Amino acid sequence: MTDEHPDDNVHSSEQLLAMLKWYRAAGVDIAVAERPVDRFAERGAPAVPVRPGSSSNTGSAPLRTAAARPAPASRNSTPPVAQSTNAEPAEAEELAQGANNLEELRACLENYQGCGLKLRATRTVFADGNPKAKIMLIGEAPGRDEDLQGKPFVGRSGQLLDRMLRAIGLDRTSVYIANTVPWRPPGNRTPSPMEISLCLPFLVRQVELVAPKIIVTLGAAATQTMFEEKLSILKTRGRWRDIKVGSHSTKAMPTLHPAFLLRQPAQKRQAWQDMLALATCVEELGLNGEPD
Ligand code: URA
Repeated sequence: MTDEHPDDNVHSSEQLLAMLKWYRAAGVDIAVAERPVDRFAERGAPAVPVRPGSSSNTGSAPLRTAAARPAPASRNSTPPVAQSTNAEPAEAEELAQGANNLEELRACLENYQGCGLKLRATRTVFADGNPKAKIMLIGEAPGRDEDLQGKPFVGRSGQLLDRMLRAIGLDRTSVYIANTVPWRPPGNRTPSPMEISLCLPFLVRQVELVAPKIIVTLGAAATQTMFEEKLSILKTRGRWRDIKVGSHSTKAMPTLHPAFLLRQPAQKRQAWQDMLALATCVEELGLNGEPD
């Protein structure tokens, strides 16, 4: 090891830019505190980060017990690195089924520590829109803006979604919006099948409690989750099906995700067809009045 001069820590702007780019690619795209904290310098911290599941990690209490639960995601805490947990979907199911209304369900999710996504998220993004609406839209996962504001579809893709809805006379007073997973996956990656299955019992309960007459799934992740099949979104979009979600039966149609439409504007034509199909269905079911 060479002697370090204090100036050795001064980086050129190119180096800083490269570092920022690297952080961004790794999903680190928000500052969680004003000042950086050197965790390795803290007393007792291991020199090398402990890999989740490795034997040096087994001294901690199991995550399922209340004592082992980390504090819920909050804006001012430094989120620990995401790790896998020993949670089972059955535990999530029991918790979710115990919720008698949407507020209880939201509280349940905010206290649930079984899904590793939560450890890196700033907020739990539960829902937006009208809980009495008969039309429910289900997206994939919160992005950066949603994670910061705690509401689904508030970023660029949300603005496009609002315009799509407005074009057929709908808005957030006439629809209810949720996501397949309520926590932002690092770097906006697609949630893993395990993450989705740990969050699914909460989404199922959310659907049961909202009891929509129509579900529109936005993009592949929500479509495959709600239709329980590995379907190609481009092949299935715009097609209505009757589905059962938990104890609730409803009509459902997949459409393209607004984020995909932002990347591939030529596909907006297809999405417009789907919006027209949605408008027709709303009309046929007599849902165009105010939700009760
Ligand atoms: N994309 C989603 O799928 N959900 C959001 O809430 C935002 C972007």
